[in-house]
Amino acid sequence: MAEFKEISPNAPIGAKALNWIDNRFPLSKMFKEHMSEYYAAKSLNIWYVFGVLSLLVLVIQIVTGIFLVMHYKPDAALAFGSVEYIMRDVPWGWLIRYMHSTGASAFFVVVYLHMFRGLMYGSYRKPRELVWIFGCAIFLVLMAEAFMGYLLPWGQMSYWGAQVIVNLFSAIPVIGPDLALLIRGDFVVGDATLNRFFSFHVIAVPLVLLGLVVAHIIALHEVGSLNPDGIEIKAKKDASGKPLDGIAFHPYYTVHDIFAVSVFLFVFSAIVFFAPEMGGYFLEYNNFIPANPFQTPAHIAPVWYFTPFYSLLRAVTAELMYVLMLFVVVAAGLAVVKSRLASVFKAGIVVASVILLAMMWSIDAKFWGVVAMGGGVVILFFLPWLDNSPVKSIRYRPDWHKYLYAIFVIVFLVLGYLGTQAPSPLFNRIAQAGTLFYFGFFLLMPWWSRLGTPKPVPERVTFKAH
Ligand code: HEM
Repeated sequence: MAEFKEISPNAPIGAKALNWIDNRFPLSKMFKEHMSEYYAAKSLNIWYVFGVLSLLVLVIQIVTGIFLVMHYKPDAALAFGSVEYIMRDVPWGWLIRYMHSTGASAFFVVVYLHMFRGLMYGSYRKPRELVWIFGCAIFLVLMAEAFMGYLLPWGQMSYWGAQVIVNLFSAIPVIGPDLALLIRGDFVVGDATLNRFFSFHVIAVPLVLLGLVVAHIIALHEVGSLNPDGIEIKAKKDASGKPLDGIAFHPYYTVHDIFAVSVFLFVFSAIVFFAPEMGGYFLEYNNFIPANPFQTPAHIAPVWYFTPFYSLLRAVTAELMYVLMLFVVVAAGLAVVKSRLASVFKAGIVVASVILLAMMWSIDAKFWGVVAMGGGVVILFFLPWLDNSPVKSIRYRPDWHKYLYAIFVIVFLVLGYLGTQAPSPLFNRIAQAGTLFYFGFFLLMPWWSRLGTPKPVPERVTFKAH
């Protein structure tokens, strides 16, 4: 137990109150550790505001969610009407609902930008692997949260989107059909599904999300933030132990973040007030029609933030499976012929590849589509061990790495666009090429990230005052 600190009876009332708390709860200690004596590089740029913006959106979602639950009815017969009631009759209900629906999209905008920053500056590299892994878990949980939330208004897209996605699980061999039944709680998406999705969306998943966000930030504060140069500022400290290139988070970055929050809220409000549906991207038009189990909409597409992964799913056809099988043969052949592994490992590779090929041959492509969709997210967890570049930040990598990252972003956006569109032979081909690039980018990273000559990394962070 910390020593009990006495304070002069003449001290100001605020100081007395703080002393009273500090003797019982480490308030000042925590403030110092995480704010006024948490040092971050002085060179953090605009890419570093998206973490705080993710936190802000998380709070917006929780607060607006609490108010929505006051009037929402998780009942297949009442849900759609209760949302309309919120929009039309509940005082300020339209604002709360639009903040929540726009907030869902805003969440993914800021989280995607936040993840891209990590990719660019190598924030996932040692010693920040756990910060990254908690981040990837947050991303996965966020997707589950958004998916379940989208069923709740019980519109056509809610209903049919859930139907399509839950049916995917039935493509898993052996356990698939039972798993889909367990998720739905019925043979088709129905009241039981709505009730369980509601329960998960309002309490179970947000609790997990909050826990993961806390873990993410604790892990970050243990190792400290990186910076655009990818240099560890803790390596160079002054006599008092403060990093030479570090500045205190409070007040320097609190001011920086308050500015970012203001700009964000300005843009967010403009969307909430003037374009909450965002041309059908944030709220699909079909979702203003009540769910009708007897009428499938002509074109079912998930909301934009899922579409890159939805494209990976649709790209995997029986035809693409042949290409993938060829890749497995070539990869296994190269591993056996070129690598210096012991012969037992080589034999293991041959056996594993034969089993994999047999599975690829015999199990329906639909299942592999599901694997591709899940794998597209899961592969992100492994990034810290895929990247072998001698430097962390893109700034000091060979120029062609930058072009490769730019192509990656373009491919991701194109996959996202294609996922919103009805399938066509041409679009399918493009999505297939994009899928191969997406996985190739990550799976071949251990090889290509080592290629080329990196630029010299400076000793200290580079910084221009602005
Ligand atoms: C609810 C979602 C999230 C919240 C609230 C959140 C919050 C934060 C905050 C406040 C920071 C410090 C400020 C900053 O560097 O921007 C941070 C850093 C970081 N986040 Fe997140 N984050 C979220 C999701 C993610 C996801 C999905 C990933 C990656 C998959 C991720 C990876 C990282 C990494 C690697 C850092 C360290 C950056 C560095 O030091 O250079 N985060 N996060």
